[in-house]
Amino acid sequence: MPLVLFIDMDYFFAACEELRHPDLKGKPFVVGSAPLKNKDRGVVETCNYETRKLGVHSALPYSQALKLVPGLVYLESDDRYYMEMSEKVMKTLKEYGFRTEVISIDEAALDIGEMSYEKAEELAKEVKEKVNSSIGLPCTIGVSIGKVYAKMACDTAKPNGIGVLRKEELKDFLKDKKVGALLGVGRKTAEKLESMKIKTIGELSKMDPNVLIDSFGAFGKELFLLANGIDESRIEDRYDVLSIGREITLDRYTNDIGQITAALEKLAKETIEEVKKQQMWFKGVSVKVKYADLAERIKNRSLSNYSDSFELAYGISQELLKTLVKDKPVRKVGIRVYALELRKGQRTIF
Ligand code: TTP
Ligand code: MG
Repeated sequence: MPLVLFIDMDYFFAACEELRHPDLKGKPFVVGSAPLKNKDRGVVETCNYETRKLGVHSALPYSQALKLVPGLVYLESDDRYYMEMSEKVMKTLKEYGFRTEVISIDEAALDIGEMSYEKAEELAKEVKEKVNSSIGLPCTIGVSIGKVYAKMACDTAKPNGIGVLRKEELKDFLKDKKVGALLGVGRKTAEKLESMKIKTIGELSKMDPNVLIDSFGAFGKELFLLANGIDESRIEDRYDVLSIGREITLDRYTNDIGQITAALEKLAKETIEEVKKQQMWFKGVSVKVKYADLAERIKNRSLSNYSDSFELAYGISQELLKTLVKDKPVRKVGIRVYALELRKGQRTIF
C-alpha cells in the first residue's frame, strides 16, 4: 500500500519567534498581522499552545485576545523570516529523496511509496526528530494512504505528535466528521453541501455520485471518493514554489514614483500570470526595492484570504511601494506573492 507522510509545523510563526527569542518560549504571546504601532487593529495569525489554552486562536482580533490575557505580548508578523525557515524545513524534507509536495508555508506531503504502517511510523518519527534537531522547530506528522487522510491523521495528533490512520480505520474515522474536515472543502463548498442536506462525511459517502458531479463537476467525484475512503490525489513534486515573484533593474536611478510604479505594474502582471499558470493562489504580497546605495528594503502584507487577483496584488504593491520610495533613488524593484496554495475549488476567494 503506497503511503503518504503529511508534515504540518506546530504553531509555525510563533515557533519561529520562540526560536529567535528563547525567552518567549512557553509564554503567552501572539504573532499579529498589523504593524506594532497599530497592534490594536491586528488579528492573531497564530500563537503557541500555552496561549491557545487561554482561549486565544488564529483570526481572533488582538483587541479581543487582550481581554482574555491582559498584557498579552504582541509581535509583528515577519513573513520573510518565516519563509526562510519554511525553506529550511522543506529542504530538510526534500533530502529524504521522496516525491515532495510543498502545500503551504508550513505543510508538505511526502509520497513514501509502498511501506508497512509500522515502517512508515518509524520513518515519521525520524523525520520529526530531524526537523526538530536540525532546525529547532516542532512539527506533527500524519501517515495514511493519501494526502487528504494523512493531513487528517496529522490534525488528530497535534501538537508534536505522530498520527497513523490505517485504510481499514478510515470509514469509521470519517463518518461523523463534518464535510469541512476534508482537504479542499472550504466554507463555500460546505455551505453548498449543507443546502443539499449533507453535513457529515458519512452522509456525503451515501450520495448518488452523479448528483455531486452535477453540482461540483470533477470535484464532486473526488468528494464522493474521498468520503468513501478513496484518496486519488497525487503527490506532485512541487517544491520550489513557496513564493513567485519578478524583479527588474530600472534603466536609471530614480525616485519618481510614477516611473517605478509603471515597472511594478508590469512585474505584477507577469507574477500573477505565473501564479495562474501554476494553478495557485496567494495570501501575501511583498515588495522589495534596492536603492542606489545598494541598501535593500522589503515590505510585506499578509491577506486574510487567498486570492489570485492582479488588481489586489498590484494595489497592495503600490501601497507598499509608497512607503519605500522617498528621497533615495531606487535602482531595482521587485514584487513577490507568497503563502501560496494550490487552488482547487477551495476556500473563499476575493
Ligand atoms: P497553521 O498550520 O494553520 O497553524 P499553526 O502552524 O500556527 O498551528 P498548528 O499547525 O500547530 O495548528 O498555519 C500556519 C501559519 O499560517 C501560522 O503559523 C500562521 C499563518 N496563519 C495566518 O496567518 N492566519 C491564519 O488564520 C492561520 C490559520 C494561519
Ligand atoms: Mg501548522
